[in-house]
Amino acid sequence: MAVALIVAAGRGERLGSERPKALVPLAGRPMVDWSVDALRAVAAVGQIVVALPFDHLDAAPAGTAAVAGGMVRSQSVREALAASGSADPVIVHDAARPLATAELFDRALGELTASGADAAIAAAPVTDTIKEVGPDGRTVSRTLDRGRLWAIQTPQVFRRAALEDALATASNDVLAQATDDAWLIERAGGQVVVVPSDPENIKVTTPVDLRIAEALLKR
Ligand code: CTP
Ligand code: MG
Repeated sequence: MAVALIVAAGRGERLGSERPKALVPLAGRPMVDWSVDALRAVAAVGQIVVALPFDHLDAAPAGTAAVAGGMVRSQSVREALAASGSADPVIVHDAARPLATAELFDRALGELTASGADAAIAAAPVTDTIKEVGPDGRTVSRTLDRGRLWAIQTPQVFRRAALEDALATASNDVLAQATDDAWLIERAGGQVVVVPSDPENIKVTTPVDLRIAEALLKR
């Protein structure tokens, strides 16, 4: 059986609300509840572990196991993984993505198996043209080939041994730099494949994102 780790221990500074972002009401319920609901509908998921701020452990949705998160996101993943027994594979998901569907979780799990890779990660094709600027911060040095660019989301699904090894061998500096977990696998030479996802699987970062997510969830 798979285990799902939901990281929900951030403070949500850019959202600017009083309570942690994962617990902010969204279409009538705490944001984290939407991800828990989607995961409950995934037959392969036998256990859900939620990393929360240490002073909000009582906010864990019913039927989930709560652990205190760490200072940075990857540390929260590490704490949740340590609390998850030996279940394999491991799904990592941000509470800040409340629009992830059961179908997407299922597809990511299926792709991990079908590909034989160490990780399968949700991603949407980039629609903007992306340019890189030089050291002065404004002169364009090149335009990237958009056909090969993907905007990376969660869920990210891992073979347990690969995620454990990557987290165990990364220094605290590396963990602090990691904006996703798949990068830790890439650094260690592992294989990561993308799972095409919908751009609607947005991350709630700022107040405008909260309004967009609310509109999408109420639809
Ligand atoms: N997260 C976590 N532990 C941390 C930091 C982040 O579990 N120490 C989680 C957040 O709760 C969120 C996800 O990682 O679900 C993505 O992080 P982000 O969107 O940056 O959320 P916050 O860190 O809460 O927001 P901010 O950076 O604006 O403070
Ligand atoms: Mg953050």
